[in-house]
Amino acid sequence: MNLIVATKIEEVRTQVRTWKQQGLTVGLVPTMGYLHEGHASLVDKAVSLCDKVVVSDFVNPTQFGPTEDLDAYPRDFDRDCALLEEHGASLVFHPSVEEMYPQGAATFVEIQSDMPKALCGKTRPTHFKGVCTVVSKLFNIVTPDKAFFGQKDAQQLAILRRMVRDLSYGIEIVGCPIVREADGLAKSSRNTYLSPEERQAALCLSKAVFLGQDMAEKGERDADKIVSAMTETIQAEPLARIDYVTAVDGVTMETIHRIEGPVLVAMAVYIGKTRLIDNFIVEG
Ligand code: PAF
Repeated sequence: MNLIVATKIEEVRTQVRTWKQQGLTVGLVPTMGYLHEGHASLVDKAVSLCDKVVVSDFVNPTQFGPTEDLDAYPRDFDRDCALLEEHGASLVFHPSVEEMYPQGAATFVEIQSDMPKALCGKTRPTHFKGVCTVVSKLFNIVTPDKAFFGQKDAQQLAILRRMVRDLSYGIEIVGCPIVREADGLAKSSRNTYLSPEERQAALCLSKAVFLGQDMAEKGERDADKIVSAMTETIQAEPLARIDYVTAVDGVTMETIHRIEGPVLVAMAVYIGKTRLIDNFIVEG
């Protein structure tokens, strides 16, 4: 196996130092493991743009709320390694919680604006503080040239771009398109929680996305009309419960009503107990 498995921060630093001394560029793909084709597409993109690709595989406890699915979050490290090897990653960083958060760790990275309070932040108030903290630590450990994130987590992507700008990280953030199942459902590790009946019901998310996209492509610029049509599509599914469907400025995450610049139309929907997200961007 060519893939290097590192569980200690120091091992990663030593390896990356060697690569940099050889003049090689390094890409980072942060993940929480249980990898699927969506993650594989991030690795493929990173491999195409960087000489060496580090993938972190760490279920980050600080981004889960007290009632969320931290213990139940799916894990399969051996399968992850096989996928990473197949897609040409160079190193997987798989630390313990203690390695990432030593006893007494009390320093966090948080964007102090309304950005992390919008959308998913309404029901997950501490989520983005945990994401920014762990990604910031990964940036300090790996010191990548580029870091790759999926557009499915659109708010996370916007927040991390802001963090990189505000904290002057010299790292390029590369956003990668949503990868979907053949029937439209956006790939997610959480899809494994769905029963067969819920899996079918979950199609209401992508159905709403495709409808909204179609309206925007045909020239609709009233964001409220698009959001209402999408909301109706989801409400027609008895197993779905909407957390939010909304149109926001693609950079600030502030609610908008007319599409003028780049707009993110995003949703979070519970299918049974599983909370799924999906979105699309209108360039304006
Ligand atoms: O998107 C994810 O899987 C996580 O939020 C990330 C970026 C790996 C941080 O734990």
